[in-house]
Amino acid sequence: MSGFERDGAELRCDGVSLGEAADRFGTPLYLYSRALLVEGYRGYERAFAAVPHRICYALKANGNGHLLRVLAGLGAGADIVSGFELLAALRAGFPPERIVFAGVGKTGDEIDLGIERGIFDFNAESEEEIARISAAAVRRGRTVKLSLRVNPDIDPRSHPYVSTGVRESKFGVDIRLAREILRRARGRPGISVAGVQCHIGSQITDLAPLGEAAREVAALSRDLLAEGFPLEMIDLGGGLGVDYEGGRLPEPERLAEQVLPALSGLPLTLYLEPGRSLVGPAGALLTRVLYVKENQGRRFVIVDAAMNDLLRPSLYRAYHRIEPVVGRGRDRVRVDVVGPVCETGDFLARDHELEAVEAGDLLAVRDAGAYGFVMASNYNQRPRAAEVLVEDGGLRLIRRRETFEDLVRGEA
Ligand code: LLP
Repeated sequence: MSGFERDGAELRCDGVSLGEAADRFGTPLYLYSRALLVEGYRGYERAFAAVPHRICYALKANGNGHLLRVLAGLGAGADIVSGFELLAALRAGFPPERIVFAGVGKTGDEIDLGIERGIFDFNAESEEEIARISAAAVRRGRTVKLSLRVNPDIDPRSHPYVSTGVRESKFGVDIRLAREILRRARGRPGISVAGVQCHIGSQITDLAPLGEAAREVAALSRDLLAEGFPLEMIDLGGGLGVDYEGGRLPEPERLAEQVLPALSGLPLTLYLEPGRSLVGPAGALLTRVLYVKENQGRRFVIVDAAMNDLLRPSLYRAYHRIEPVVGRGRDRVRVDVVGPVCETGDFLARDHELEAVEAGDLLAVRDAGAYGFVMASNYNQRPRAAEVLVEDGGLRLIRRRETFEDLVRGEA
């Protein structure tokens, strides 16, 4: 048995009791399956085995060092977006030459750190950034590799907040200007143009836009190669979605079918930067029911997890399945699952059909492994949850719950 499955009435993870996890470590609790994480990574490796490739896990989806070590151990690279993500990746054992550095706003210090630690390349997002990277490399007497992130103006048909390759978004440079920008970049000291990158968005379930982006970036790469640019890679970003409804996941094989034909004959290593699809389905947030109440005909299930633990429903109105860990065969009712935070926007689900529950029941919020804990905050002076990993048929605490002392530690 691999992953989250019911054994009779009880939802378990890799055979381990979620009730036991909640009793031992308390709630709210993030719980991840090592087996699902490994399977997810291997799925990418299999799907792209036919071409030279590197799967760079996007750390922003979940940065827990234990999960990072699992992925680094499998041979993954890392896609980072800040200086501390770089330190986290190195600490977990990702070799620097497998690390790519993304982001529209890299600071001078972050660029210096990347150069000093010898990362594979910078995915640059503006001419000003290219100039800064060039100057920083020259100061160190180094030549660093650079890819240009292009914005192909393709709608990924996802939530507007996570659509990154449409014209009005801040990401990348207009693909029509890319050649000019790279010609000028080539004339600068300290940098070598390694490739073109694009990431059109996240939670993409209709894969056609990813195919379209691949064709655009491949065409540009062909032109650049013909012009004599020493390209060695093509980076198509992340974006593969998760089926939050619990159906079949869009699989890496389908992604490969969409993008590989566009790359045929290109003498380049394909880089991918998946985040959500690797860790999302591998995690759940366990939370206990505190109270059930009715206001003006609306039924509220008040739980001990809140928007500070899992922000996605409040921020994007994202849907996560919520289910009782132990089914009791009660009637299903429509409820709002809400947390203790003092905001009407604090909900984990609205109008959610759920078996009737009562105080003390344990609920599992599914597919919460990506953009869950990493987007948690201490709002309302709430400690961030603990995280556990299910491995080898047992439970391992991989981050303890914060204490009040943790919250005030930084105060000067
Ligand atoms: N590469 C770059 C440059 C990115 O910006 C991202 C995600 C990824 C890779 C990974 O994309 P993924 O495979 O996870 O779709 N907080 C939002 C998602 C934000 C995604 C930001 N960029 C959410 O909870 O839906």
